[in-house]
Amino acid sequence: MEFFLDTASIADIECYQKLGLVDGVTTNPALLSKEGGDPIEQIKRIVSIVSGPVSAEVTYTEPEKMIEHGRKLAGLAENIVIKVPASVAGLTAANQLKKDGIKMNVTLIFHASQAVPFIHLGVDYVSSFVGRVEDFGLDNRKLVSDVTQAIDMMDSPTKQIAASIRNPDYLIEAICSGAEVLTVPPSCWEKTYHNPLFMLGESEFLQSWKELPEAARSTYESLE
Ligand code: E4P
Repeated sequence: MEFFLDTASIADIECYQKLGLVDGVTTNPALLSKEGGDPIEQIKRIVSIVSGPVSAEVTYTEPEKMIEHGRKLAGLAENIVIKVPASVAGLTAANQLKKDGIKMNVTLIFHASQAVPFIHLGVDYVSSFVGRVEDFGLDNRKLVSDVTQAIDMMDSPTKQIAASIRNPDYLIEAICSGAEVLTVPPSCWEKTYHNPLFMLGESEFLQSWKELPEAARSTYESLE
């Protein structure tokens, strides 16, 4: 099981690296745009501090341009993984990029059938978007188990990334549904560690602790 960080922010990457939660990074055009500045420089900064796979997405819709862009982005560093969309154009580009030996992550998968041709091709990763449909009031959590089964049945080396993770429930469900990689946005980890019951419990324990006389507490804390 690997945890990628779903961000283009250097500050976030450095913060979560200290917590052991950056086996890789996934960026996309929206995340890079949020950081401002030169996106190529930003990708170079990311690969200079992350040794695991770093996804960088092509920003064209025509296969020929995707191939050209993918080749150039892949040339930036050895650990770059090219994100191509789960479309016919993306599949056309993926066939060529695979021949070139370029690592790929297929993005924007909302139904397992979209992933099937890419799993057949043996791309490195397929990214199942579990949370984004929630924005439209829908639930897409079954997607991860469907893709897990498809990969198994097709006996493919492709790994599934559970992406677009919005909350701690989705995180656990994706693990239990067989995703080999989770790309988690910092906002989801923040929700996980700002669990209201945990925060209440911790403050109650420490409040009760203060009711002990200072001398008793200090013996416990200093062990002297
Ligand atoms: C994954 O690689 C994507 O960058 C990401 O999970 C997109 O999720 P979103 O729905 O938050 O945009």
